[in-house]
Amino acid sequence: MNNRPLSWRSPKTGVKASPIHGRGLFAVENIAAGEVVAVKGGYIYDGAQWAAARERLDASEIQIGEDLFMAPADVAEWEGAMLFTNHSCEPNIAIEGQIVFVAMRDIAAGEELVHDWATTDDSDYEIECRCGTPSCRGVITGQDWRRPELQARYAGWFCWHVQRRIDAA
Ligand SMILES: C[S@@+](CC[C@H](N)C(=O)[O-])C[C@H]1O[C@@H](n2cnc3c(N)ncnc32)[C@H](O)[C@@H]1O
Ligand SMILES: [Zn+2]
Repeated sequence: MNNRPLSWRSPKTGVKASPIHGRGLFAVENIAAGEVVAVKGGYIYDGAQWAAARERLDASEIQIGEDLFMAPADVAEWEGAMLFTNHSCEPNIAIEGQIVFVAMRDIAAGEELVHDWATTDDSDYEIECRCGTPSCRGVITGQDWRRPELQARYAGWFCWHVQRRIDAA
């Protein structure tokens, strides 16, 4: 291990307290539609390996394929692996491929960078959403990608493994 962070955040972004939850990722300069804002890094785990590692590590993973995850190897790497992107039902970033977060539209300095977890997650959680947007769906789940209205809304914005599930369904 060295002391380089596992993930990369654009110098146009910064992490600070979020009105949605804990810390969030924010634009500190204007960001243009299509710009890369962050890249998630880490080590590759299968589901069983990640479930075992999760006993000593807080949530910090990204799913990159069916039963494949990327996450830090130990607690010392956790902070540098985190991107701190909160969920919003009115997102302004999304993943292209598996690990690259891009701006879905022009983003003004000061805006929080948020993605809709429906575009990235295929999981079994259910949480009360605190995004506070007019189109908030109240409760978000790891199966929201199945919702037809979200598939229509986010056509072209799903990450690779979720798009594969949609195509296969
Ligand atoms: C990857 S963390 C995001 C960074 C987090 N804010 C932090 O400070 O570590 C994911 C956690 O953030 C919280 N979270 C993010 N977006 C949320 C939302 N819209 N509503 C409720 N909780 C949210 C949930 O507790 C979730 O488990
Ligand atoms: Zn919401």
